[in-house]
Amino acid sequence: MQVRDLSRRVFLEKVGAASLAAAASVLPGRAIAAAPETLEARPGTARLAPKEYQPTPIWGYDGGVPGPTIRVNQGARVDRRFLNSLPQPSTVHWHGVRIDNAMDGVPELTQAAVAPQATFDYAFAAPDAGTYWYHPHNRTWEQLARGLYGALIVEERDAPDVDRDEILLIDDWRLTEKAEIAENLGAMHDWSHGGRIGNWITVNGDGFWTSTARRNERLRLRLVNVANARIFSLSLAGLDGWVVALDGQPLETPQRAGRMVLAPAQRVDLIVDVTGETEASIVSHERNGSYAVATFKLEESSAARRPEPAAPLSPNPVTPIGPLNTARRADLLMEGGAMGGMMGAMMGGRSMDMRGLVQQGKVWAFNGRADMSDQPLVSAALGETVRIRIENRTGWPHAMHLHGHHFRKVLEDGTLGAWRDTTLMQPEESFEIAFVADNPGNWLLHCHMVEHSASGMMTWIRVS
Ligand code: C2O
Ligand code: CU
Repeated sequence: MQVRDLSRRVFLEKVGAASLAAAASVLPGRAIAAAPETLEARPGTARLAPKEYQPTPIWGYDGGVPGPTIRVNQGARVDRRFLNSLPQPSTVHWHGVRIDNAMDGVPELTQAAVAPQATFDYAFAAPDAGTYWYHPHNRTWEQLARGLYGALIVEERDAPDVDRDEILLIDDWRLTEKAEIAENLGAMHDWSHGGRIGNWITVNGDGFWTSTARRNERLRLRLVNVANARIFSLSLAGLDGWVVALDGQPLETPQRAGRMVLAPAQRVDLIVDVTGETEASIVSHERNGSYAVATFKLEESSAARRPEPAAPLSPNPVTPIGPLNTARRADLLMEGGAMGGMMGAMMGGRSMDMRGLVQQGKVWAFNGRADMSDQPLVSAALGETVRIRIENRTGWPHAMHLHGHHFRKVLEDGTLGAWRDTTLMQPEESFEIAFVADNPGNWLLHCHMVEHSASGMMTWIRVS
C-alpha cells in the first residue's frame, strides 16, 4: 500500500477541506403508521484515499462510512428497523448502551442473526448520556473491517457549554495499492497475532479529515476507536483541555488530556480549548512516526478563553459497586495466540490440540475453552456485585468488553477505577473488574480485537 506514504500536507494543499465525505443520508418521510426509520446495511463506496484513487468499495450503514449518527436525549428511545442488504447475515450491537438484553444484537445469545434481505426492529431506551457506537456482531471481523459502524450519541439533559460538538470515529483499514479493502480477511496470522492491523487510518471515513475552528473556541471532541484491532495512542496539538468521560461515563473529576490510549471500541470525550496559532490537530503516535489524524485550520477570533477547568458532566444512573468482600467472584484465564505456548483447549466438548484448533479457526482460549460454553462464566442474581479476575497469560494486549453493564477496575489499593465498558490489558497483565449485575439477561464478555473474539476469546455471563 503506497497511500500511507503520501505526505498528508501535500494532499491537504491539493484538496483542502473539501474532501469531507457526504455522509448525510436522506431519510424517508414518516409513514402514517410511524414505521421506525430504516437503518440499512449495504454495499457502497467511500473516498477513504486521496482523489487519484478510485472510491473504495465498502459495506456501510445506509451505504456510507461512517453510518448515520443517531442522536437522542438521555432516557429517550432509539427505534430503527434494521434492513440487512448484505450478502451474509448480520445484526446491530449498540456498544456500551446498558440496553434491554433482547436488543443487544448478539447472534445465538440474544437473537437470531438477520438473514440477507430480512429486517429486525431495534427499539430500546438509552439510560446513560454519552458517546456510544453501533456495529455488527456477526462476522464482525469482516463486517467491521468493511466499514459497518456509526455513532450513537445520547445527549445530556444539561449538556456542557461548548461552541461545537465533533464526533471523530477513528478507523484503521487494510487497503491494497488500488485503495480496495485487502481481501485477506480471516487470515490466521492476524488472528493469532495482534488482529487485523491496517495501513490506512481514517477519521469519519476520511484519510485527511479537516475542519476549521477559531482560536479560543471550546470544542467537545468525541473520539471513538472503531478499528478491528489497532490500539491508538493519541495526543493533542494546538488544543488544550480535559478528558471528561470514558466509554460514555463521566469522570468525577475531569483530567488534563495528555497521551490518550484508545483500545478498540473505547471512547474518550474531551472538552478542549483551541490554543494553536494556525492549526490544531489530533495526533496519532505510531511505530513509524506521528501523524495528524484530524486537523483544524484555525481562524482568528476576538473571543476570550473560557475559564478552566471544564466542569464535570453529570453522572449517569449507573448502580454503585456494592461491598467487594461479599461479591460473587469468578476467574477468567486468557491463553493462546502466537508465542503463547498453549498446547490445546476444549472445543465442541472435547479436548483438542493446537493443530486441531487452528483447523477450526481457533487460537485462543478462555478458561481452557476455545468455543462458547453452554454454561456462563458467571451466573449472578439481579443486583449482585460481581468481581471477575482476568489474567492475560498471553503475549498480546487485549481489549476486554462486557455487554450490558459498565464496570470498574479494582485497583491495587482496593479503590475503584473509572467506569468503562472496555478495558485494555497488557501482555501478562492481571486485574479484577467489578460491576453490579443489574441488567437481566445473557451478556457477552469478549476481547474487542474482533479477530481474537472470533478465534476463542469469548464467554458470557447470566444475570437473572
Ligand atoms: Cu462492540 Cu461485543 O461489542
Ligand atoms: Cu484480544
